[in-house]
Amino acid sequence: MDEPFKEREHWARVAAEWIAWARSPRHDAFWAYREALLAYLGKGCGKALEVGCGEGRISRELKGLGYRVTALDAVAELVEAARQAESAHAYAVADARDLPFEDGGFDLVVAYNVLMGVEDVPGTLKEIRRVMRPDGQLFISIVHPFRDRGNFVTSQPDAPFVLKDTYFGRQRFEGVEERDGLRMHFAGWSQPLEAYAAALEKAGLAITSLREPIPDHGEGEEHLKQWTRIPMFLWLKARPLGSAEA
Ligand SMILES: C[S@@+](CC[C@H](N)C(=O)[O-])C[C@H]1O[C@@H](n2cnc3c(N)ncnc32)[C@H](O)[C@@H]1O
Repeated sequence: MDEPFKEREHWARVAAEWIAWARSPRHDAFWAYREALLAYLGKGCGKALEVGCGEGRISRELKGLGYRVTALDAVAELVEAARQAESAHAYAVADARDLPFEDGGFDLVVAYNVLMGVEDVPGTLKEIRRVMRPDGQLFISIVHPFRDRGNFVTSQPDAPFVLKDTYFGRQRFEGVEERDGLRMHFAGWSQPLEAYAAALEKAGLAITSLREPIPDHGEGEEHLKQWTRIPMFLWLKARPLGSAEA
């Protein structure tokens, strides 16, 4: 059996790398999906919780959309960076499996590119469900499970996409991306879509909407063209449905 992935230790180690990576303008794919994200989330009000806020860029967007935002991360250095950038209205350092909030307080919970790095997805979703209002909404972004299991064979826009092994099963991933003088060490789990759907079901959350967004790519961003053929991310919205399984 694989060793459990210690996500907090990993992110504490790479926190400085992540702050530089996420804050460098148009450096990573986030920027090419930003407009689609804002349109999909839409303006809102009420209390939002971002679980796994990192240095705070999604919390800042939620604030801009009108929410009263709490930004939470397991790593104190990242929460401090989010605080310094005035990303939210409130902050918390905590693990997503043990949220320091009362039941049913949030209208919206967002987990943006977090769950792939979490050891216990079912436990995390159950805890998220606990802090959601009965009519609240969860928004999840993950790296698309299909994208995770293959690669384009070259950087050409029309390059074939090759599935390396199997789409099914749970596999550890670990890798370093380097671009424009920045490097970022990513690690976590790759799991098929069914694993996420089963974890949502177990937590008593029903998927109400799903998107496979297409990136905007500007000049000098030819590398993003391939991702107009295969989805890089998967976005889901879910709502509480009855109660979680014991
Ligand atoms: C890829 S970053 C995404 C940050 C931010 N959501 C964004 O999109 O810019 C993943 C974040 O999730 C946090 N994280 C991972 N596992 C966590 C857990 N169990 N509880 C709380 N935060 C966690 C990491 O510390 C890291 O800041």
